Amino acid sequence: MELIIAANWKMHKTTGETSDFCRAILKEEKLFSGVEILICPPYTSLPAAANIIVDSSLKLGAQDLHWEKEGAFTGEISGAMLADLGVEYVLVGHSERRHILGEDNNRISSKVKAALDCGLKPILCVGETEAEREAGATNEVIEEQLISALKALSAGKIGDLVVAYEPVWAIGTGKAALPSDAEAACLFITEALQNIAGPETVKKTRIQYGGSVKEGNIGSFVEQTSIHGALVGGASLKADSFSKLVHAARKAVQS
Ligand code: 13P
Repeated sequence: MELIIAANWKMHKTTGETSDFCRAILKEEKLFSGVEILICPPYTSLPAAANIIVDSSLKLGAQDLHWEKEGAFTGEISGAMLADLGVEYVLVGHSERRHILGEDNNRISSKVKAALDCGLKPILCVGETEAEREAGATNEVIEEQLISALKALSAGKIGDLVVAYEPVWAIGTGKAALPSDAEAACLFITEALQNIAGPETVKKTRIQYGGSVKEGNIGSFVEQTSIHGALVGGASLKADSFSKLVHAARKAVQS
C-alpha cells in the first residue's frame, strides 16, 4: 500500500507562511514519489495552499468539517465548502477536538458521513488517553471509537477511509509510542475494521500512526506491517524538517 503522510498544522501559519512552506516543499516534490503527501493547514490558508500546489502531487486536507452541508451554524465550515476549494481529505475526531472541544462519538459519526457524502476522504482519528492505557483499556476505547464513528456507513464506504491511531499521551509530548505498541494497536484496528466491514472492504484502508513523529523515528513506525503512514504535527511545520521526515519514511520502506 502507498504510504500516506499528512501534515497537521493545527492552529499555525498565516497565508504568507503557508505559501512559503508550499513553495519550499515543492522544490523537493520529485523525491517524494511513492508517498502520498498531504498538508492540512488551517481553513484560512486552504486557498493559498490550493493555488500553489494545484498542479503538483501534493494534496490538501482540512482539519475538521461541519456535519451539515449548509445552515445556521455560525463560524462553521461544511464539507461542500472544502471540496469547492480542492480539498481531498479531512481529519475527523482529532483528539484535540474530542478532548478540548468536547466532540463525542455521535458527532464524529455524523462528520465522517458528511465528509464521504461530499466526496472527501475522512482521516478518522482514534486513540486512548494515558489513564485509559494504564487501565488496560486501549483496545476497548479504540473499538468503541471505530464502531460508533462508522455505524452510519454502508460497509462499502468504509474502504475509502484512512484511520489515524494517535494515542493522546503521545501527541505533542515528545514521548512517541513504542513502534511495537503502535503496531499492536494498528493491527487491532485492522481486525476491528474487518469485523465491521468485512476483509475485502478494508484491504485498501490505510492506517497511520501519529504522536511525536519526527525524522528520527518515522522509519521505525512505517516499517511495521499494519502501519501505512503517519499523521505529523510539530515536525510538519518547517518545510525542511518535514521533507527530511518524508525521505526517512521512504528509505525505511524501500530498504
Ligand atoms: P505531534 O506530532 O506534534 O505530536 O502531533 C501529532 C498530532 O496530533 C497530529 O495530528
